[in-house]
Amino acid sequence: MRLVNIKYVEEGSVLARTIRNATGNTLLVEGAVLSRGYIAKLESLGIDMLFIKDERFKDIEFNPVISDKTRESAYKTIRGVINSFEAGDSVSLDAESIKSAVSNIINDLLYSYDVVNNLADIMGYDEYTFQHSVNTTVLALILGLGKGYTHAKLLELGMGVLMHDIGKVNLPKEILNKPGNLSTEEFAEVKKHPSLGFDVIRKNQDFSINSAHVALQHHERWTGGGYPRGLKGKEIHEFGRITAVADVYDALISKRPYRQAQEPYQAYEYIHSQAGHHFDPDIVRIFTKRVAVYPLGTGVRLSNGWRAAMSSGKIKTSRIGPL
Ligand SMILES: [Fe+2]
Repeated sequence: MRLVNIKYVEEGSVLARTIRNATGNTLLVEGAVLSRGYIAKLESLGIDMLFIKDERFKDIEFNPVISDKTRESAYKTIRGVINSFEAGDSVSLDAESIKSAVSNIINDLLYSYDVVNNLADIMGYDEYTFQHSVNTTVLALILGLGKGYTHAKLLELGMGVLMHDIGKVNLPKEILNKPGNLSTEEFAEVKKHPSLGFDVIRKNQDFSINSAHVALQHHERWTGGGYPRGLKGKEIHEFGRITAVADVYDALISKRPYRQAQEPYQAYEYIHSQAGHHFDPDIVRIFTKRVAVYPLGTGVRLSNGWRAAMSSGKIKTSRIGPL
């Protein structure tokens, strides 16, 4: 199989991995032949990348880093929290189901066959909020594992990351989904979400104060200039420094109302370039060890003009051919 940007998928290609939406409903099953209509529909749903079958790359197998079941239960948990907020219940968080969703993610990561190369699974489909919260949690936990965190510390980190943008629930949707640049006033509104989220989480005794700091500090920057407090370096809680990397990487590889998704290697390069600027260099060092520049199945163009697909993090020259 091969991972292909939807813009380059040809009519008649065969889908190699079932596509599900955030509620777990199947949009298109593995084996479906992609008609022009299907491709257009998937594109309109915000799907950027597809796994397609390719005889030349038959032995590239994809093992998701977290199971569909784990992902769906995490989506369900976030949806439940957001629904109760929107219904006016602004204080209670269902800590038990949040804890269990994070535990499942940690267990899947611990037993995952090859996290580094299979991380393409986090690139995603629709309903940005759910998907982004889960993806950022997966990435942050991978970084926490790289730091050697205990299970209890991973749980504390993950519970905070899963809820890191909960403060956005109170912001006007027109601002969050605005296709163009935000006005100064609109951006001032957006900048409130870390403090709003912190207030929600810290009021819940099932969350630690460290988990609440994930929401408060995920937009701070290593050299200062972030928000809400403009902290610098190690003034920022380590959970905040980890989440900043995970949050930005996933945001860059996702399609947003105001821009197209970047390729994983472009997002990787951005994170790398911001070590010691936007991000803690130590966290970036772990990121570069634990996340593949070119995830499994990604098409690459070689210096001789030919194209190949990544297999287990390597380009196998025997597979090279014009695509
Ligand atoms: Fe945020």
